[in-house]
Amino acid sequence: MTQNPKPLSLYVHVPFCKAKCTYCDFYSIIGRENSIPEYLKSILKEIEQKTRELDLSGHYLDTIFFGGGTPNLLEPNHLRQLLDMLLGLTQAGNEMEIGMEINPGEASLKNLIAYKAQGINRVSIGMQSFQPHLLSFMSRIHSAEKSFSTYDDVRKAGFQNVSGDLIFAVPGQTRDEWVGDLERLVSMQPEHISTYSLTVEEGTALHRWVEAGHVKLLEETVDTGMYDWGRDFLEKSGYPNYEVSNHAKPGFECRHNLNYWTGADYLGFGPAAHSYFGGRRSWNIRNLDAYMADVMNSGTGEADSEMISHSMARNEMILTRLRLTQGLNLEEFSTIYHENLLQTKKDMLHKWTGKIVVSDGHLKIARGGWALIDEISSDLM
Ligand SMILES: C[S@@+](CC[C@H](N)C(=O)[O-])C[C@H]1O[C@@H](n2cnc3c(N)ncnc32)[C@H](O)[C@@H]1O
Ligand code: SF4
Repeated sequence: MTQNPKPLSLYVHVPFCKAKCTYCDFYSIIGRENSIPEYLKSILKEIEQKTRELDLSGHYLDTIFFGGGTPNLLEPNHLRQLLDMLLGLTQAGNEMEIGMEINPGEASLKNLIAYKAQGINRVSIGMQSFQPHLLSFMSRIHSAEKSFSTYDDVRKAGFQNVSGDLIFAVPGQTRDEWVGDLERLVSMQPEHISTYSLTVEEGTALHRWVEAGHVKLLEETVDTGMYDWGRDFLEKSGYPNYEVSNHAKPGFECRHNLNYWTGADYLGFGPAAHSYFGGRRSWNIRNLDAYMADVMNSGTGEADSEMISHSMARNEMILTRLRLTQGLNLEEFSTIYHENLLQTKKDMLHKWTGKIVVSDGHLKIARGGWALIDEISSDLM
């Protein structure tokens, strides 16, 4: 073991869903829960094989995340088998964050208690909206009441680190409905709140509807107005923003995502999962059957990989750090890339005056710049 072990994050992708949501581009399939035992066998084999080839002795386990898809479709004993193997990979950090996504109405109190007993200590509930017409537009199969009762059950099970996800700028959504949703969620006092602006991803039903002209998206100014209002409201309510879409009571920022955004090593298992380890990024096959067949035949479900070059890493650092409220540490950047951005990008910084600022040695997006973050970041790359 080295003197200063580095944090390692682990991700398990659970690709099963009860229904496909209109907007969702994440790899998930419906009607295949009967394949869970076979999936589990494959993923355990993938974990064993992938990690046998890596030296993890210089790392400590910092976070584990079960994402999807719908991780609550795993039974507690499935989770136990996965955690037994994952926790044996290398030394555990002092206070590991072990998180899991839960869909409203899909996890019984008994299972929630069992998940907690297995070591899960952070739960994120995909509430999305409390408006029946928006839930139905998004093809969500739960009601607002299920979000409330699942939240109550999560608390009854003893979870003390809980997040709620909401989506805004949904076609047909009014500003008052967005205000109402956020006020309701804040009244429940979760530790963490994610607010995502609805994005239209290719290959989704939403994309087809928009292309065919059946659905009209909200005006960009309405979307931005909802974002700015939400960010201010959450800040005032005790949930400062720490990343474009994420807000938390101090000390409850999601460490797993922060590790992704700050360039820590991570290993992903399951179909479509991504890994980044030792400067190499790889991604798994985005098809359950092909993934399971490959893992069983060759021990790997990897589709492809690439080495991250110096310039790719530089650009990624700009892209991910600017999305964080604390911004890009100019000294750290200059130490790693031997570049003073204030000099090399002087013209661009001038172009975006007022939208990007330098404060406390960090380059930060200003309040009026969040809607333009993609354009600003690309100008700095
Ligand atoms: C892929 S889901 C997985 C968790 C769980 N199955 C659920 O539906 O809540 C994770 C989160 O991503 C967000 N999300 C997925 N697709 C999105 C999109 N196209 N636009 C905005 N948010 C999206 C949702 O808020 C969701 O809670
Ligand atoms: S949003 Fe969640 S429940 Fe809906 S299809 Fe995607 S992963 Fe499944």
